[in-house]
Amino acid sequence: MPSLTTPAHLEDLKVEVLFARKAKPVWVTVCTGTGCRAYGAEALADGFEKEIENRGLGRRVGVRRTGCHGFCERGPLVIIQPKGICYLHAQVKDIPEIVDKTLLGDKVIDRFLYLDPETGQRVHQAEEIPFYKHQQRILLENNVLIDATSILDYIAVGGYSALAKVLTKMTPEAVLQEVKRANLRGRGGAGFPAGVKWETTRNAPGVPKYVVVNGDEGDPGAYMDRSLLEGNPHSVLEGLIIGAYAIGASEGFIYVRQEYPLARKHAQIAIDQARDYGLLGTNIFGSGFSFDVKIHRGAGAFVSGESTALMNAIEGHVGEPRPKYIHTSEKGLWGKPTCLNNVETWANVPFIMNRGAEWFRGMGTEGSKGTKIFSLVGKVMNSGLVEVPMGITLRDIVFKIGGGVPKGKKFKGVQTGGPSGGVLPESLLDLKVDFDELDKVGSMMGSGGMIVMDESTCMVDTARYYVNFLAHESCGKCVPCREGLRQMLKILDRITAGEGREGDIELLEELADFMEMASLCALGRSAPNPVRSTIRYFRAEYEAHIREKRCPAGACAALIQYEIDQAKCSHPPCGACARACAVDAIQKVKGGGYMILQDKCIKCGSCYTACPDRFHAVCKVPVKPAEWKIPLPGVESELRAQM
Ligand SMILES: Cc1cc2nc3c(=O)[nH]c(=O)nc-3n(C[C@H](O)[C@H](O)[C@H](O)COP(=O)(O)O)c2cc1C
Ligand code: FES
Repeated sequence: MPSLTTPAHLEDLKVEVLFARKAKPVWVTVCTGTGCRAYGAEALADGFEKEIENRGLGRRVGVRRTGCHGFCERGPLVIIQPKGICYLHAQVKDIPEIVDKTLLGDKVIDRFLYLDPETGQRVHQAEEIPFYKHQQRILLENNVLIDATSILDYIAVGGYSALAKVLTKMTPEAVLQEVKRANLRGRGGAGFPAGVKWETTRNAPGVPKYVVVNGDEGDPGAYMDRSLLEGNPHSVLEGLIIGAYAIGASEGFIYVRQEYPLARKHAQIAIDQARDYGLLGTNIFGSGFSFDVKIHRGAGAFVSGESTALMNAIEGHVGEPRPKYIHTSEKGLWGKPTCLNNVETWANVPFIMNRGAEWFRGMGTEGSKGTKIFSLVGKVMNSGLVEVPMGITLRDIVFKIGGGVPKGKKFKGVQTGGPSGGVLPESLLDLKVDFDELDKVGSMMGSGGMIVMDESTCMVDTARYYVNFLAHESCGKCVPCREGLRQMLKILDRITAGEGREGDIELLEELADFMEMASLCALGRSAPNPVRSTIRYFRAEYEAHIREKRCPAGACAALIQYEIDQAKCSHPPCGACARACAVDAIQKVKGGGYMILQDKCIKCGSCYTACPDRFHAVCKVPVKPAEWKIPLPGVESELRAQM
């Protein structure tokens, strides 16, 4: 294994790798990120390798397994280079046809291409698909190009050149000033300036100093950090080594949650390879700087992502927060100065070092520079990972990139910032997404979860969902958070059950005030955000639940029941609803369609989802809570008589 002792060695190796790659003019790139794996991407990549070998094409065609491309919903994704033809949903059985027609025949197979719903045209290249076209992919760009388990692939795209430059040409102080000039703000939640945190850690007395990657990512629906660690772990590692040099740290930790086995595996491979190439260890690039990294496997609690809790966990204690009278940058791990940054924050560093602070400042808004990765999920046509410049509007993310709301439904809101963020309504779609703007309207950037909601989402129930999540995830150490969340949950439970009382909204607001003021950590202090934002923007919905015992979205189980419209139920009836029902609550009426036995129905909504759009026979009917178990007079008894 060659130890890279000078930047010239690195450059030579890069040229060598690029030359070796060029020997194969065609590359089949298969996304084997976790999303595509779920669709069978591993078998697909194996299949391509076998088919290419069996046909004796191995000298001309290479197969590369990459990390997440972002458009996970359409996986498995295959890109055929150098033409960049992007195939979606390809399966093992399609391999011989793809080899025959595309690899050997130079023909594109239309049915695997993206069909643009606007133009009705098939799109050949990924960059032309609207989902990708409106993004600015910098951190995610290399995910598509490299095998995450190959340091050579990373070196081929310029990897470790920033580290070589920093260690051989820049002083730690100059690196620090460059990060400060770039105004890189932390991507893990609060948007704290990374350079300021680095400087505090550097100036704090005490050795050794530590640097930590926060890869806990506990927000429901978020997977940006996972995809970076799975798809391009060397970029995070390179950023961390550069940071350690600037700060004067000699040891680092990558904290990865238990539920991310692939991210952990790839991060460990990256560490081992970097060590083998002399990029970790003693006297890196002959600079005299020595540094090494360990992985810490987190136990998978949302609160463990909080900085002090995470450090407790690394030290071997329970991952619970402590008061932060003294910042972790001064007294962190084992009481020593520790700089903790999010995965995405670290991944930005090599780019800033290579391209300069001015380049970085050229993207984004006045207060928030660069790009941000979001996981765009929920009721949106194109879900997946998107990287956009700070300052893009919510409308552009949801409609231009996300393709809007499916099934002709109306957009209702978008939750940003995970459980600590808020739901923003349609009137704020033109808001420019950055740290400060989101904060002003009662939400936050958080780590980048973005959940789109349509007209069928109940906002009271949404608030209840997040409060329930947080009540379970609260460490329970402080009373305002532990009891505040439990009381909030009780109130939201009763409102969604149709038992809300006058004054409940005000009570929720009062609880929110106390929690924000008195909770020990930011979990409790930000926990009221989903409640506050839904009251602020969707108050009428709370009032309808409390005063009219009605859920306007038709989502709260206690306030609706499902019925089958006999006129719409097909003749002969298709029975999709009955097959979907797990509790046998749907029965066939002699000579007619199906009906729901209300006393058996558990209101799971499976029949509603299963009924084909062309019939739309299952409907939601408002019902007052006291009535919901009583069979409907008239229709139901008439139908029962016919069974
Ligand atoms: C309850 C809670 C959970 C958090 N979870 C994460 C997380 O999963 N990942 C993360 O990077 N930051 C998380 N944070 C924020 C961290 O405390 C810390 O501010 C952040 O990792 C600092 O990195 P940054 O400055 O690069 O954003 C969490 C904070 C709280 C209060
Ligand atoms: S996992 Fe393949 S596109 Fe995300």
